[in-house]
Amino acid sequence: MKFFIDTADVKEIRELAATGLLDGVTTNPTLIAKSGRDFIEVITEIAGIVSGPVSAEVTATDAEGMIREGEKLARIADNIAIKVPLTWDGLKACKYFSSKNIMVNVTLCFSAAQAILAAKAGASFVSPFIGRLDDIGQSGMQLISDICTIYNQYEYFNTEVLVASVRSPAHVVESAMLGAHVATIPPSVLKQLVSHPLTDKGLSTFLDDWKKTGQKI
Ligand code: G3P
Repeated sequence: MKFFIDTADVKEIRELAATGLLDGVTTNPTLIAKSGRDFIEVITEIAGIVSGPVSAEVTATDAEGMIREGEKLARIADNIAIKVPLTWDGLKACKYFSSKNIMVNVTLCFSAAQAILAAKAGASFVSPFIGRLDDIGQSGMQLISDICTIYNQYEYFNTEVLVASVRSPAHVVESAMLGAHVATIPPSVLKQLVSHPLTDKGLSTFLDDWKKTGQKI
């Protein structure tokens, strides 16, 4: 499973990229606003930190506008994935970019029907927002299961399932069990993945016992 980080905070991206475990970055207009930085400037910087896909989202709502904005974003670097919303216009723009071999991440996916359309439009990634479905009492994980099942029926669907709106380590583990290709994870959740109280307790005992031997490696 690939790990993307869901943030536009360059400091956090640098810190987590240093682990060697980051495969890409996703941003959205909310995360850009939170960074307080210029959109093009911050995306350019992020694309230089990681070599994998960096999702940069268009804000036009018509296909022509999305294509105009997406072309500008695609010029920033080869690893930019144009992020478009799951609307008819977004799908048109997706088809346009995929025919030009430019990566597209179709975002705001909340149903299997929408995910089928994204695959048919040649999306590199589809982003089902599982946390937001859980928030309204629906099952985000059931959607991941449905999309993975559908995509597995068709060899010619090359779209990767990019699990988004991830809120917990359990979301990551359950998505991996279903075979989702990518999880885009907020930095705080990514850091939680390593934690286990028995690891901390075990390490502390090992170090105490080692100290008693008086040895050095
Ligand atoms: O980047 C898209 C998605 O991951 C947003 O998540 O937590 O705002 O629902 P959230």
